[in-house]
Amino acid sequence: MPQQVKAVIARAKGAPVEVTTIVVPDPGPGEAVVRIQACGVCHTDLHYREGGINDEFPFLLGHEAAGIVESVGEGVTEVVPGDFVVLNWRAVCGQCRACRRGRPQYCFDTHNAEQKMTLLDGTELSPALGIGAFAEKTLVAAGQCTKVDPAADPAVAGLLGCGVMAGLGAAINTGNVGRGDSVAVIGCGGVGGAAVLGSRLAGAAKIIAVDIDDRKLETALTLGATHTVNSRTTDPVEAIRELTGGNGADVVVEAVGRPETYKQAFYARDLAGTVVLVGVPTPEMTLELPLLDVFGRGGALKSSWYGDCLPSRDFPMLIDLHLQGRLDLGAFVTETIGLDAVEQAFERMHQGDVLRSVVVL
Ligand code: APR
Ligand code: ZN
Ligand code: ZN
Repeated sequence: MPQQVKAVIARAKGAPVEVTTIVVPDPGPGEAVVRIQACGVCHTDLHYREGGINDEFPFLLGHEAAGIVESVGEGVTEVVPGDFVVLNWRAVCGQCRACRRGRPQYCFDTHNAEQKMTLLDGTELSPALGIGAFAEKTLVAAGQCTKVDPAADPAVAGLLGCGVMAGLGAAINTGNVGRGDSVAVIGCGGVGGAAVLGSRLAGAAKIIAVDIDDRKLETALTLGATHTVNSRTTDPVEAIRELTGGNGADVVVEAVGRPETYKQAFYARDLAGTVVLVGVPTPEMTLELPLLDVFGRGGALKSSWYGDCLPSRDFPMLIDLHLQGRLDLGAFVTETIGLDAVEQAFERMHQGDVLRSVVVL
């Protein structure tokens, strides 16, 4: 029987989000219905609301979530009802050219549920990133459910579903940060903060946090930064070079998504170093760099989508490290809120007051 549940939708461009009743179908072949326990508020939800992603309103928002599998459709073997799972937006297909090259983290044909969730009048909803988890229950492809240790707090575990995984993975997967490396992270919100934490996990010897907000620099210190630079008052390229013997950092993670900060990252890295762009730019942004510098400085200029994560490999491992006290994922939960407070959480996110607000159900 299709179920009616409470959920947060964005009905029209720019309009405040609203809590309403939606219809969740029974899972079909390859699908699962998940009872959501927690879901973080991410910039991407706000971008959907503002019409910045596409025009397929109404959107069912929310995509950094954890919960319990309630029911599964025909042929589902990955999970069973009762499993504690983190939802992911990289359910790999196993057959596209990336998967066939043995690089499923770049899968070009990831799976979502086939059926649509709807409003009571039958209007089809577009779930954010194919998830839609500001809801008591949601319908996803079974491959979007990654089983992790149920000892973890859902509010913490769910964050691996997007921003925190993006930052951790930017450092440990894309940037390949290793023992003894020097790392600089430009922009220390939820994503950059996670890059700081990931760099510490990977054994970086020097971790330089850069931000324009002193509150974010304070938090970065608790996450493992060894030095901080306020780039509103200090030139970050000079400061990073000074802190690295005049050379620049081995890896610089750009977690803002702007041309100015990308240039800072480019020039703050050592020769043959790596720049990782994990901040998401907007369509009108362009970048100009002397091509001779791109050539002459060598190294690697990489982008990191979702931290180049492979959920089945990374989520259980990171949760285990967290439960062992070796990865403080709890630091990212600034506040927990109800379904009815998502609009206010957008406002606090916009003001830079939070790393993550997490809806708890
Ligand atoms: N220089 C340095 N830091 C900056 C600058 C700048 N010019 N402009 C903004 N920042 C800092 C902010 O002060 C904030 O701490 O960048 C941080 C951005 O953090 P959040 O707003 O919390 O965003 P976050 O969730 O971390 O996402 C960062 O990654 O996934 C993308 O869309 C997301 O582009 C965004 C980026
Ligand atoms: Zn694939
Ligand atoms: Zn997100």
